[in-house]
Amino acid sequence: MTNSSFPADLRHPTDESQLAKWQLSQFLVELTPNLALIKKYSIMETIRTVEQLVNALNNCVESGNHVLDVMTNVEIPREEFEKYYSWSDEKQARNVLARNDDFEVLLVCWEKGQSSPIHDFNAQEAWIHPIEGMLREERFKINVDDDRLEKVSNMLLGNDEFSYMNQIGIHRYSNANKARSVSLNIYRKPVAEWHVYDEGSSSSTMMETWENKNYNLLRQEA
Ligand SMILES: [Fe+2]
Repeated sequence: MTNSSFPADLRHPTDESQLAKWQLSQFLVELTPNLALIKKYSIMETIRTVEQLVNALNNCVESGNHVLDVMTNVEIPREEFEKYYSWSDEKQARNVLARNDDFEVLLVCWEKGQSSPIHDFNAQEAWIHPIEGMLREERFKINVDDDRLEKVSNMLLGNDEFSYMNQIGIHRYSNANKARSVSLNIYRKPVAEWHVYDEGSSSSTMMETWENKNYNLLRQEA
């Protein structure tokens, strides 16, 4: 499915159509269990600060609403995000804005040429949204015949798109920009452990902690 399948802009639907469009968004999530690239549209108030984002995610947990409704309404200015940026020459820098038992919000800062290892994750859902630059997302599976990793998708993510995962998928993200990129990553539940895979085989190593920089907007232990 490509994002050309979707209406160009449903962010400001008329009152009588709001329910139907909200139902459509839920349907699309169900329809694309592994990946949804969906243009921004929803009925929720626009989110303009990181604090509003964290509050909206908390409300999501309490109300049972889907994170899609939050992600599709994020219009946070770059300056608001920039105060949380940090960078590393060694690998992408993970800046944890908030983390609790229900979700985790990160800004991942990618220098030119940086890429994650091939890995899986144990979060129930993940949303990856480039806010600067462009990311390449590759997904893999283990071929049952020869037990080796096989690439099953390879796509670019731009600033008005996001990727969605709700299974333990094997994947790799790379900075596809000619300069730095930054992504907003939301995990529900937080990622507690994952496996890193060797590209030439299906052998994997279990991991338990990423190297993070914490801002802890929830004022809780990260
Ligand atoms: Fe990942």
